[in-house]
Amino acid sequence: METISDPRLFVMDHPLVQHKLSLLRDKRTSTKDFRELVTELAVFEGYEALRDLPLEDVQVETPLETMTGKKIAGKKIAIIPILRAGLGMVDGILQLVPSARVGHVGLERDHETHKPRTYYCKFPRSIAERTCLVVDPMLATGGSLIAATKYLREAGVKDIRCLTLVSCPEGVKAVLDADPDVRLYTCVIDRELNENAYILPGLGDAGDRIYGTK
Ligand code: PRP
Ligand code: URA
Repeated sequence: METISDPRLFVMDHPLVQHKLSLLRDKRTSTKDFRELVTELAVFEGYEALRDLPLEDVQVETPLETMTGKKIAGKKIAIIPILRAGLGMVDGILQLVPSARVGHVGLERDHETHKPRTYYCKFPRSIAERTCLVVDPMLATGGSLIAATKYLREAGVKDIRCLTLVSCPEGVKAVLDADPDVRLYTCVIDRELNENAYILPGLGDAGDRIYGTK
């Protein structure tokens, strides 16, 4: 399989991530466990995606003396889940950044055309000044992430980082081609899309598995 090399692409190769991903893919994994695994993977991915947050000095009094420590330099974060499966990743990121704002983009793929249809879009105030983490477990054709990224650019957002769990080469290329400044984090890039635009080997329909709707 061709490897995609792009400085904007980050593939999580940590053993714990790969272990949890195998549990997530397993068709016998229960709805409860699937949901918990999505949250856990979102924590790992959020941790990586926020690795370069700027720091500033802070004075800390330990029980023994005063020292200069570090704190996050007031950088504002927004989490933008793509409904509905993206909602499954929000709690994981909020564990890392409890004060983050949350915006929502409602997109659903048409079963025939595989193109996304927008049914909801609401962003927090001052979105343009925030680092936006767009979260969605699956990156298939890329249509949904490209649409969400476009809405954020139209709202003036400069720093967009897309976080997905399972991607495929077609979707990764489409997202990176559509926006020259976007960063993309994924736990894995699978083999291909099938004729119904599902990822192979993938994990099936992420939304249905998170919410137990099938
Ligand atoms: C799934 C998934 C992504 C999208 C990926 O959502 O959660 O949003 O498909 O496909 P793409 O890269 O080809 O756009 P779906 O439309 O099934 O909606 P759901 O989350 O409500 O189940
Ligand atoms: N959406 C999913 O939930 N799974 C896929 O494999 C493709 C799109």
